[in-house]
Order: sequence, then structure tokens, then C-alpha cells
Amino acid sequence: MTTDIRQKVVELIGEDGLAQAFAPIEEASGLPNAAYWSDEWLKLEQEHCFRRAWVFAGAEAELPEPGDMKPIEIGGVPLIILRDRDGTIRGFHNVCRHRGAKLVTEPCRKPTLTCPYHAWSYGLNGKLRSRPHFSGPNVVDKFEDGGGDKLDLMEVRCETWNGCIFVNVSGDAEPLVQWLKPLLERTGQYDFSSISWAGKLDFEVNANWKLVYENYMEGYHVFCVHPKLLKFAPMNVRWSGEWDRHVFYNDYIFPELEEGRGEGLPHYPGLSEEDAKRGLWFLCFPHFAAEVFPDQFSVLVSYPVAPDKTREELHVFLIGEAATSDDYKQAREATLKMWDDLNREDLGMLELLQQGRLSPAYDGGRLSPHWEGPTHDFGRRVIERILS
Ligand code: FES
Ligand SMILES: [Fe+2]
Repeated sequence: MTTDIRQKVVELIGEDGLAQAFAPIEEASGLPNAAYWSDEWLKLEQEHCFRRAWVFAGAEAELPEPGDMKPIEIGGVPLIILRDRDGTIRGFHNVCRHRGAKLVTEPCRKPTLTCPYHAWSYGLNGKLRSRPHFSGPNVVDKFEDGGGDKLDLMEVRCETWNGCIFVNVSGDAEPLVQWLKPLLERTGQYDFSSISWAGKLDFEVNANWKLVYENYMEGYHVFCVHPKLLKFAPMNVRWSGEWDRHVFYNDYIFPELEEGRGEGLPHYPGLSEEDAKRGLWFLCFPHFAAEVFPDQFSVLVSYPVAPDKTREELHVFLIGEAATSDDYKQAREATLKMWDDLNREDLGMLELLQQGRLSPAYDGGRLSPHWEGPTHDFGRRVIERILS
């Protein structure tokens, strides 16, 4: 099996492509163009990187009431995330057990899940409840306690952490809190139980999902692409960051608070003076990127749609009542705007990176050993995951 996958990888990116992903940074290149343009390569990533890991599936606050549900695609698999009657967040495969119609196509609030094709009806716990006309005209099959393994909706492993919903499609990832450990170990001084969801931004990116994170990790492009961010945190406070197990970590100390980052909003309780001027950012492989500033926890996640199309969501969590109270409306909006402006500065670059990878003359490039070690490592991790 593993040999088959290795063969497939070599077929798609070549022995050279494989070797350059594992070479030391001084001699290394990024992944070959095919890793950014091939449908087959994306299928491998969906199956091995996305389905087998914990993947962020939204904020609990997007589903405030029982019966709130939304469709989402993770690792190419259509899913439903919903809030059950008892308040539990659950995930199900978004497919009817009868003829396989997709059940939910838009975020909505409903007391049951009723299939639009022949009206099989499921409870919010996924159990089949009724099947009109199935056994003959005007006969309704009713199920008191569900229909069992072959008829109830298929549940997907789903856990929450301080308002964030995560899904593990394969069902065999380590427990969520353990998976988050490398992030949590570096953030012991932050009381994440104080965060609440303040809103989200949606972006459509005409680029491969990996480019989003390769760009996210390196501060090298800041002097050229982000004039405002450069003022906030100049090049000399930046470093390359590093991987710790499956989590990338980077940070800096910035000289002054500014609107959108720390100013005018409450901070985490009990932060030291130094931490009140620290920005940290993480990437839990493959796609859960989180930024911690004294006043927020912000999440940037990318969902591949096609090799050159990515859906991106940016969720902002603030401290206590800052997330919802009118008193903080202006500062809250300024924070969302800051992220919107910053992210849009990157989008144009991501499209150029994607387009550049149509050139057969590009071989993965030369990378900066000072800044881009972790970026190079990201590509290696994608391959390792596919091969493991
Ligand atoms: S496909 Fe859902 S009820 Fe027939
Ligand atoms: Fe950027």
C-alpha cells in the first residue's frame, strides 16, 4: 500500500521533487508545480492531511441554538455540523442513508433533518425517525429509537475547545486537547476560557491552500507587502519561527499597541507587561492557524476547493464582553477591518504565486535559510503525511 502511494507521489512530483522536499534548506527548493496544480495531488492531500487530522469546522457561536446547522466540506467529504437538542455540537456525514442525497446545503435552523428527495426524517442526534410511504402508499414507518447502524446518519468525530469546533473525519486522530498541546504549552499565561467569538471574515482565494500557509509562516514578505504591519512590528523584531512536533510557532514583541491589535479592547487577565506586547502565531498542521495578541485569539483556516481555489475563513475571538457588547463595537469593528485589510494584501500575492507555478521554468525556487526553513518544512510535512 505504502509502496503504491510512494509510486503515485513520484509519478506526480518526480524523484527530484521528493528529494528537494527533504534536502537541507541551503540546497532545498519548495514543492514542484504539480503539487499546486494537480487534482490528483490535491486528492492525496485531502485524504491524508485533512481527513486524518483535526480540522477546524467553525465557531460554536455560529450555531447558537438547538437545530442550528451548517454544511461544510472537509477533506473533500461533505459534512453537517449541528447543535443537538441538549446543546451538544455534533458532526454527521451530509448524506441520506436512502439514495444518498445531500441533506443540508445552506446554514439553517430546523427541528429535524428531513431529506428533500423522499422525506426520510432524522433527529438532531442523527437517528432515523420516520420514512413516509416506504413500505407502501400512506404507510409511515416510525422509529422510536432510530434505525440502527445501517439507517441512522453516520456520525463524525467532533470536539470543541473554547468555542472552536473541530472535526476528525478518519476518527483515529489523538484526543483534541493532546493535539493542541504544543500550542497550549507555549500559551500557559493566556486564559483561553475568557474568549468569545466576535465574528468572521470569508475570502475566496485563487490559489492553492498550501500557499496560504507558506505565506502565513514567513515574515520575510512583510517589508514589501504589509506597510502598516511593518510599522507595527518591524523586520528586526521578527524571526523565522520553528516547528515543535506538528505545530509551527512564531512570535515577536511589538513596540506599541495599535488599533486592531491590543488597543481599546480588554486584555487577557493577568498578562505580564512583556506579554501585553507580544504577538504569537501558530499553525497546527495541516490547517489550524491561530494568532494570539493580548486582546484576542484569531483563527485563519483554509479549505481547499480545487488546486487553484481555496476558501478561507478568519474568525476573531475577543476577551469577555468585548466580543459582543456595544461599548466595544467600534474597537471590535476596527479589529475585523485590520484583519480584512491585512489579508487582502496577501491575496494578490497568493494569486501571483499560483500563476507563477504555471511556468515550467519554475522548479520550486531558492529559499532563504534565514526566513524560510519552516516554510520549506511545511512542504516536507505534506509529503510525509501522504506517505505515512
Ligand atoms: S435519498 Fe433521502 S429519502 Fe430518498
Ligand atoms: Fe502576509
